[in-house]
Amino acid sequence: PIVKKEKLADKIYLMDVKAPRVAQYCEPGQFVIVKIDEQGERIPLTICDYNREAGTITIVFQTVGASTQRMVSLEQGDAFADFVGPLGCPSDLIDEDIEELKKKKIVFIAGGVGTAPVYPQVKWLHEHGIQADVIVGAKTQSLILLEEEMKAVGNVYITTDDGSYERKGMVTQVIQELHDQGKQYDVCVAIGPMIMMKFVCLLTKKLEIPTIVSMNPIMVDGTGMCGGCRVSVGGEIKFACVDGPEFDGHLVNWDEAMMRQQTYKTAEGRAMLKELEGETHHGGCGHCEG
Ligand code: NAD
Ligand code: FES
Repeated sequence: PIVKKEKLADKIYLMDVKAPRVAQYCEPGQFVIVKIDEQGERIPLTICDYNREAGTITIVFQTVGASTQRMVSLEQGDAFADFVGPLGCPSDLIDEDIEELKKKKIVFIAGGVGTAPVYPQVKWLHEHGIQADVIVGAKTQSLILLEEEMKAVGNVYITTDDGSYERKGMVTQVIQELHDQGKQYDVCVAIGPMIMMKFVCLLTKKLEIPTIVSMNPIMVDGTGMCGGCRVSVGGEIKFACVDGPEFDGHLVNWDEAMMRQQTYKTAEGRAMLKELEGETHHGGCGHCEG
């Protein structure tokens, strides 16, 4: 059941969903797969927040296609047919020794809708006595998400592509500026569109800041069986749903990841991937019949 629904910005919605077993076990960095009804598409969504006492999970989604558009028609009191999770591995940060973590300077890069999955990690650190820097980037002021919530748990730097609010420019410019001002970071965590994560990684590699990214490729089963979410990391084939979604951003093959994202959109593209990836292409959405 959906216990709360809120429009955060144009085409971006927040829902609190009653899912006590997911809320009991989930950790920052994990995701869920939702289905609206029996025939519905499986939609992977990173967990944005959770409340173990209330047994709720907060998801934030953007309407990008027919299924997410149908999700918007669901109201408080309606229910999803399936709400599966927690899936994927929790963020590496939460497994580190807390005293060691306190010595580290951490910067989060939250791009657009990617701000939603950044929030639980920053909140978790704050709850453990660690104040991280957070660079939030959005196309324009009206698309900035969770500003007050984020400011309550981290040191926030906002930038907009069009300069309509605070700084003008992309997140990479802010990283460079903070670096030039003498800020030294031990870890960067970047979550947002792939193109942003790619350019953040190119910069942080130059600045020698280890960088974790959260990959959101096409997913189907979310359990490592279909092969849809394949990513090359350090020359090895990984599956974002079971090996990730977080990876060392300096090792991700971004051009391949972005090519797959586009290619999977058409049947012709999927056939081409099957050809390209040969024996290592284990299935993939729509290929089980072959
Ligand atoms: P957007 O296009 O508005 O970009 C957000 C910010 O990223 C920009 O404001 C800019 O600062 C930065 N950026 C974009 N391109 C850049 C570049 N070339 N170099 C440097 N910085 C750049 O973001 P959006 O429209 O909210 O993005 C939606 C996308 O985010 C969807 O494709 C969605 O799948 C993805 N997403 C990813 C995750 C994840 O886990 N990685 C989570 C939610 C959404
Ligand atoms: Fe990861 Fe299918 S979604 S293997």
